[in-house]
Order: sequence, then structure tokens, then C-alpha cells
Amino acid sequence: MQVKTFDEYQQVYRKSVEEPEAFWAEIAENFKWRKKWDKVLEWNFTEPKVEWFKGAKLNITENCLDRHLENNADTPAIIWEPNDPSENHRILTYKQLHDKVCQFANVLKNNGAKKGDRICIYMPMVPELAIAVLACARLGAVHSVVFGGFSAQSIADRIKDAECNIVITADGAERGNKNVPLKSVIDDALVQCPSIKRVIVLTRSHTPVSMIKGRDVWWEDEVKKVETQGNPDCPAEEMDTEDMLFILYTSGSTGKPKGVVHTCGGYMVYAGYTFANAFQYQPGEVYFCTADIGWITGHSYIAYGPLTQGATVVMFEGIPTYPDAGRFWDIVDKFKVNIFYTAPTAIRSLMSFGDDILKGKDLSSLTKLGSVGEPLNEEAWHWFNDKIGKGKCPIVDTWWQTETGGFMISPIANVTPLKPGYASLPLPGVQTVLVDENGKEIEGNGVSGNLCIKFPWPGILRTTYGDHERCRQTYFATYENMYFTGDGVLRDEDGYYRITGRVDDVLNVSGHRIGTAEVENALNMHSSVVESAVVGYPHDIKGQGVYAFVVSPDKHGNEDITRKDIIMTVSRIIGPIAKPDKIQFVSGLPKTRSGKIMRRILRKIAEGDTSNLGDTSTLLDPGVVEEIKAGAL
Ligand code: WT7
Repeated sequence: MQVKTFDEYQQVYRKSVEEPEAFWAEIAENFKWRKKWDKVLEWNFTEPKVEWFKGAKLNITENCLDRHLENNADTPAIIWEPNDPSENHRILTYKQLHDKVCQFANVLKNNGAKKGDRICIYMPMVPELAIAVLACARLGAVHSVVFGGFSAQSIADRIKDAECNIVITADGAERGNKNVPLKSVIDDALVQCPSIKRVIVLTRSHTPVSMIKGRDVWWEDEVKKVETQGNPDCPAEEMDTEDMLFILYTSGSTGKPKGVVHTCGGYMVYAGYTFANAFQYQPGEVYFCTADIGWITGHSYIAYGPLTQGATVVMFEGIPTYPDAGRFWDIVDKFKVNIFYTAPTAIRSLMSFGDDILKGKDLSSLTKLGSVGEPLNEEAWHWFNDKIGKGKCPIVDTWWQTETGGFMISPIANVTPLKPGYASLPLPGVQTVLVDENGKEIEGNGVSGNLCIKFPWPGILRTTYGDHERCRQTYFATYENMYFTGDGVLRDEDGYYRITGRVDDVLNVSGHRIGTAEVENALNMHSSVVESAVVGYPHDIKGQGVYAFVVSPDKHGNEDITRKDIIMTVSRIIGPIAKPDKIQFVSGLPKTRSGKIMRRILRKIAEGDTSNLGDTSTLLDPGVVEEIKAGAL
């Protein structure tokens, strides 16, 4: 599956465009199917409908686990490093992981889970999280993993939207010196969720929890029951290639987060192929991805992608700065990590601690580096390259999205010539196009535009859960016959792509996607907020910070207290990850005569660039702009 030279990449890319079906059929041959497909692809982007490997049957966990048992049973699948460095690490070989997944799948079965059920997972970064995900897939239950930084309200919204019947969680999560009481957050969420019949709770932090009779059970007790039943195996459910594998909620420019749906066959092929290719994974290499399984990066590049390839994955429970800012490098040193995949925000944050934290850390095992989540600015690129890669490790800057399932534009390690700040070239099978405002394709090089994809790839989202029309509207209606990414892009003289950021009202804060409308809704729930507008501004570490303009005439107490109250409200409604970095109280927002907020102006003010605010003549009250400018934070 791996492309070995740049010439070969160009040839393969050409073939993938000229004969996409033949190209992907050949790739799909590298996976294990119960039954092969009758037809490689059926699609139209108007409904939209995309079906890959039509008629094929499989179970993704047989690809992630069973098929490695013959030759690689004792290869480590997961090396787990705990939050607290004095606690022992754990290693699960493919055989052990297989057995634990089967065992927990039986636990799920005993608790009423069956194919097609939706199961919400809210867990710390422990091996049991991967086990829970794979156990769902084993049974054909659809997992919906919710990141540990989301609030009870966010969890409830997601559980209700997907009509989940089971929650898998833990007593608490340890992150740095903080403890997040996961079960207690779940309890708050479940007040609103009558569909949940069972909560399975893993012991992790020994935080006291309230176990509700008839609803809540301990993971460990349930595992014991399965052990006494004495049947360790759990045959994998046969899935249709287009059966749902998982739902993952992500923010958009309007309303509530949407449940991005990925299906079995295409997603598996795409996650596996892109992992093998971009990182040029070789057997025996140790690969460390610092993402949380609560995000798509963890789904595709901790769990499914690497495991389909029999890779050894390092999974880390903690945070990069605990107990100190050298933790990642300690882990690289400890497990002799070869491939290190992280986010620009982490790189910038660690950079800011100075180079002393690198002293005495042996990073010589590293051969390849990767980055994801937001543009990797040149300063961070060079630091990563010089100080971590010692100038000898290619950096694969992987551009992709929750919706794409896997890497779309990315260098292939040691194959694609690199340019700092560029995600470089589309991977085979990815037909990128630039379009202008009117949907007209912008051809040639040295151009900028909105990034679209004009042909399906196996990892493309199939729908947004429970609302196909929303999927069509969001991704397929802006430009006819194209998938619209929401990103702006520059294609330089060499045809290299540089992602310039979102062109919609979505922020990227520390690599997390946050809809401005969502934050505004949360702000507006606070009793003394009349109206608000949220925009992003450049932030040294987070990439973007959240800047909120808030109309709040009756501040309770003083401004500082009101600010804290408002931040607390956002934390409660969405979660700590969406907290505004800056709140500016204003007497009104700049609006057009038709009542539309002119965000362009607010963005400029938030960026601290007020020299040229552009045309303000259509504003209802231009005076308000002067006031906002004067009070900018
Ligand atoms: C958005 C997708 C894909 C996993 C992490 C985020 C931005 C992602 C890059 C990159 C520049 C990037 C885009 C994209 N983004 N990777 N390498 N260079 N921007 O997934 O939450 O679905 O967000 O993240 O704006 O649209 P996500």
C-alpha cells in the first residue's frame, strides 16, 4: 500500500484520479473481508449518497485484532503511559487486546447491547477506552465518544440526539494534577436522558461516586461475571460495509453540534491506508499519537488506523506539562518512540518553556514527526524540526477533518519534499479543487480560494446523524457537486497547499473546533447577557483565542465578577474548552440596517487591527464602532 518515491506518488496519484474505483479496490484487497464487494462505488453529491465497497461484509475489529493473532500475537498493540509517572505503564499485546475486547464485548452483551444500538463513551485516556470502542465495534453497536472536557449539558445533547441506551464511563479522570469527576458529570447529564438504561463505570481515580440501583454497574464486577461464565471468545458481528461504525459530534457554524457518521468498510480502508502511507509505518516501529480518543484523531490514528496495520501505539493519559513540560520527551525516551504525532498548540506551548526542558532527554529514536489540527506556523515548524527531529525527521503536516475520516492533504514521510507551513499535496484518491465565491473552479497555481473535494474518498462522512438534510446543507449545498471543507487555502507555484484557516464561523482553539454560534448561545443564557458576538483572534499558543463582545447593561456586582459568572456559564453549557479568553462589555453590536452583526469589523477589532475597518457605511449606528474600538482588550 505504501508509495516509496515521489515519482511513484505522482503516478499513483494520477491513477487514483483516472480510475478511482480500480485504485481503491486494489487498496481494499489489503484488508480482511468476510465477503468482497459487488461494486466498488456508488455515489452522487446531490442527495448526497456515497457507498463504498457495496455488498461487502466485514468487521473492523477482525482487521484490528484477529488478523494479527497468527503472526503478531505478542506484538505490543497499546503501550499505555499513566498521568502519574510513578505509576506503572501497561502494555497490551495484540493477543491481550483481542481477549480484553472480546471480554468487554461480552459484558456489553450481558448488559443488553446489540448491533445498531448507540453507546455513549465518556472516559479517561486509559486502555479501557480503546477496549470499549473496539468492543462496541465487535458487536456492531455504534459508539459515540464524548471528549472528557465537555459538560453535562453537552453530553446530554449528544445522548439525546443519538438516542443512546448505554453509557460507558469511569469514576474520574486524572489529568495533570486535576481530577475530573466523570461519573458525577454523567449523573448530571442523565437527569435529562431517559433513554439510558445502563451505565458501566470503570474504576480509575477512586473518586466517590453514586451508583444508582438498577442502572449503574461497575466495569470490574461485570468483567468478573463474564469470566465465571467461562466463554472468553466473542465472535465478531458481520457488518455490512455501509453499516454505521460510529458517530462523532463536531461543531459547525450554526446551531448544535452535529453527529458525523462514519461507516465500516470505507472508513477502515481509509484510516488504514492513510496511516500506513503518510507515516510509512514499518513493522516494529513505536508510534505515539498525543491526541485524545475523544476526537477524530484518536479514533483514526490511535485506534482504528494503526491497529489495522498491526502497529504499536503509545497512548498517554496525562497532559504535556505534567509533572513538567518535558513529559512528552520523557515518554519518547522511555518507549524509544519512532513516530511522534502531535498538535501545533502543544508544540508552541512546549516551545515557550525554553530548550532547558530538552536537556538529558534522548530523542534519538525519533525518525518521523507529524502535526494536525491547525496550521503549523513556520516558527513552530522549525523548532519541531530542529530541536525534536534534530533536522533528520520529516514532519508530516496532515490536513483533514472529522468529516473526512482520515488524512487528505499531507506529505508522505521521506517521499514528499517538504515546505514549512504547508500540508503539501493531496494524498492519492483525494481530488482537491479551489473554488471562488461563486463556486467557479480556480485553476492553475499561485492561487487562493475555498477548498473543496470533487470526488468521494472512502473515509467521507455519510450523513449527520438523524438529519441528512443538515449534512447536505452544510457540506454539499454551498457548491454544486462538491464537498465543501469550510477551509480557505493557498495553492502556491509548485501546487503545494497551505491551509489558511476556516472561512466560516468556526473557531479553531488549540486544535478544537468551536462554533461561534454555539458559544454565543451559551453566553446568551447568562441572565445579564442581552446579546453577544464571538470571534477569534490570534493567540500565541492556542492558535486562536475566543473573543466575546457582550451587551450586558445590568452587571451584577462588578465587571470582573460578571465576567467570571459568564465564563462559568459557558463552562457549564459547553465545557471548559469553549471558555472565552476575553470578554469586552459593549453597549451595542455593529449591525447592518437589516440587523446582521458585522463580524468582519469585530474580527478586525479583536485582532487589534483597527486601522482599516473597511466599509462601515451600511451600519445602523456607526458610532458603536468607535466605542468598541476604544474599549478593545
Ligand atoms: C479543521 C478540522 C483532523 C483532526 C483534528 C481536527 C483544521 C486540521 C490541519 C492542518 C491546517 C488544519 C482545519 C479543518 N485543521 N488539520 N494540518 N493544517 N488546518 O479535526 O475538529 O474536525 O477540525 O481543523 O480548519 O477544517 P476537526
